Amino acid sequence: MQETPREVNERREGGRTIAQMIVVGLIASALGIAIALAIDWFPAASSTQAGPIDTLWDVLLIASVPIFVLVTVIVCFSVLKFRMRPGEESLDGPPIHGSTRLEIVWTALPAIVIVALVAYAYVVLRDIEEAPAAGRERVVRVFGEQFAWTFEYQEGGKRFRSAQLYLPAGESVKFDVRSKDVIHDFWVPDFRMKIDAVPGITTSYRVTPRENALGAHDIVCAELCGLGHAYMRQTARVVSRDDFAAWVTKVSAPAGGGQAGGGGGGAVDAKALFTAGKQDTGATACGACHTLADAGTSAATGPNLDESLQGKDAAYIEESIVKPDAKLAKGFGPGIMPPNFADTLSPVEVDALVKYLSEATK
Ligand code: CUA
Repeated sequence: MQETPREVNERREGGRTIAQMIVVGLIASALGIAIALAIDWFPAASSTQAGPIDTLWDVLLIASVPIFVLVTVIVCFSVLKFRMRPGEESLDGPPIHGSTRLEIVWTALPAIVIVALVAYAYVVLRDIEEAPAAGRERVVRVFGEQFAWTFEYQEGGKRFRSAQLYLPAGESVKFDVRSKDVIHDFWVPDFRMKIDAVPGITTSYRVTPRENALGAHDIVCAELCGLGHAYMRQTARVVSRDDFAAWVTKVSAPAGGGQAGGGGGGAVDAKALFTAGKQDTGATACGACHTLADAGTSAATGPNLDESLQGKDAAYIEESIVKPDAKLAKGFGPGIMPPNFADTLSPVEVDALVKYLSEATK
């Protein structure tokens, strides 16, 4: 059948329209990828796991930005090009029949893209989760609670807890994460990995801090867990192997070893109580949430005690421990500090803490 001149015109017009869309789509895709890759999405890459994860992110951007741009360009282009013009209100569009070839293409292409990306992501996940050779891994148990993290180490046959997370650079560490109350999420953005702390089960992931990542890295709770969620932040410190060994020796030293600040109830080492809490009664370490220069803690969930307790008398300090919501420090709401220290600490221990704190913040 012979095409009429009008049909020839319409076919040429349609070909031009598609060519225009392809050109606009290609330019927009290139721009979109350039912008997406130019954005500095993540903080410093501080674990060996961070490299493959950041590369995966870039690949996902390169794959998904053109698709987003393509869909957006076609929609915008169609709205402009095929909009109804005055006088066309009663006209019906041309009848459109299905195109089997087109349908096969738009089903197969996305399927291939998704399978390829899933396969690549699986390989990355398998690589970053791979365990190092046996015996070369440190396990640190992480306990989340409203609103602090506590870390339990097993070093040289000694088990001890600390409100601080110290990690030697270049050594693999596996975090076994648990929760004492609600769901939290243990996240060090610089390490890239994160996982929920779920009551009743142990979850885990491993990272190897990079040799050049020495210094402080934020620990963040990434699951809404209550009033203090936003304050549930601590600091991970990546140190040299020597500094780590020195820290372990210092922290795992038996309580009441005649160190400064151990005064009060004779047998009670208030400073150790402050930095490690009490496992048997579940008393959280003060240092998990509070900064105190004398104890070397630097958390910011609760007030900085060097400032908020400065010049305060013993009665005020005691009330702050056993009835934390009675008087609130500026910038901190009620319900953030555990209200049960009168139960989890003995009166002798509370007295020792009060004495230690009033001396340390004089
Ligand atoms: Cu713990 Cu949010």
